Amino acid sequence: MTDKIAIIGFGNIANAIITPLLDNKLIQPENVYCVVNSGKSLENIKKNYKYNINVYKSNSIDSKKIWDCQVKLLSVKPQHLKDIFESDDIKNKDNLLVSILAGVSINKLTQKFPNHKCVRVVTNIPITVGKGLTGIAWGEKITSDQKQFTKKLFENTSKIYEFTEDYLDIFLALTSSGPAIIALIIEALSDGGLSGGLPKILSEELVMEMIIGTISLIRENKLTTSELKNLVTSPGGTTISALRVLERKSIRSALIESIVSASNRSKEFR
Ligand SMILES: NC(=O)c1ccc[n+]([C@@H]2O[C@H](COP(=O)([O-])OP(=O)(O)OC[C@H]3O[C@@H](n4cnc5c(N)ncnc54)[C@H](OP(=O)(O)O)[C@@H]3O)[C@@H](O)[C@H]2O)c1
Repeated sequence: MTDKIAIIGFGNIANAIITPLLDNKLIQPENVYCVVNSGKSLENIKKNYKYNINVYKSNSIDSKKIWDCQVKLLSVKPQHLKDIFESDDIKNKDNLLVSILAGVSINKLTQKFPNHKCVRVVTNIPITVGKGLTGIAWGEKITSDQKQFTKKLFENTSKIYEFTEDYLDIFLALTSSGPAIIALIIEALSDGGLSGGLPKILSEELVMEMIIGTISLIRENKLTTSELKNLVTSPGGTTISALRVLERKSIRSALIESIVSASNRSKEFR
């Protein structure tokens, strides 16, 4: 991989991306240059992070060093983008900036970082346990080496999908908002178990195991979701009784609209 990489904002997601690369020795700690906003985060990384990386506070003189790195991972919250300014004296003009900021377009990135070729990435929170999904949209004139490098950043911890930028909003809705929707469904179903007298923890465990088992069954037997539904729905039985309630409450439509709404909201951020 490249010699030096700069991390602009070393929070939860940047940590989840960079730490496995360090663990696997794909980058060396001395080649990682990161910048954070607060003295508290700076001290925390210096004291507690398991690798001795270079870390600076934003706006310090040393923090300018990050602009010498050919590759930057931009991983601040979108609302903090306004505080990041490309250095005036960037010598190399073939820099790569990989942004994971929700809803910030390639166009906006390119305007803000004119000395960089920009890549927009959407990843999701399961990346923190190595089970992420990552969507990548390439800006203009990205070389094949730069593409390869960008994929390397994410392939240890997630499955990678390449899209044109238009698809990133719906990808984000499904994969980044999805975990919250699934958490809500797990919570609600286990409340159903609670209502039937099961302890909350047991009920939640049963729901999660049931979901994992259902996915395995669909995948291993190559079933469609309709085939699986028919498999467990007998005439006049318990499952059709449950499904009738869900249809009456328009759950299907509510779920469809939740994804459309998340995608539309993402478009508004551009
Ligand atoms: N959380 C998710 O589920 C998720 C999933 C996919 C993508 N994302 C995207 O990933 C990005 C980071 O999210 P996160 O959850 O990792 O956030 P986070 O944990 O809050 O980390 C943000 C980092 O940015 C730093 N920062 C803030 N202002 C800065 C500045 N002016 N200069 C340099 N660093 C600055 C913060 O430093 P301090 O700690 O000192 O303030 C912190 O290290 C967001 O843009 C988000 O859209 C998030």
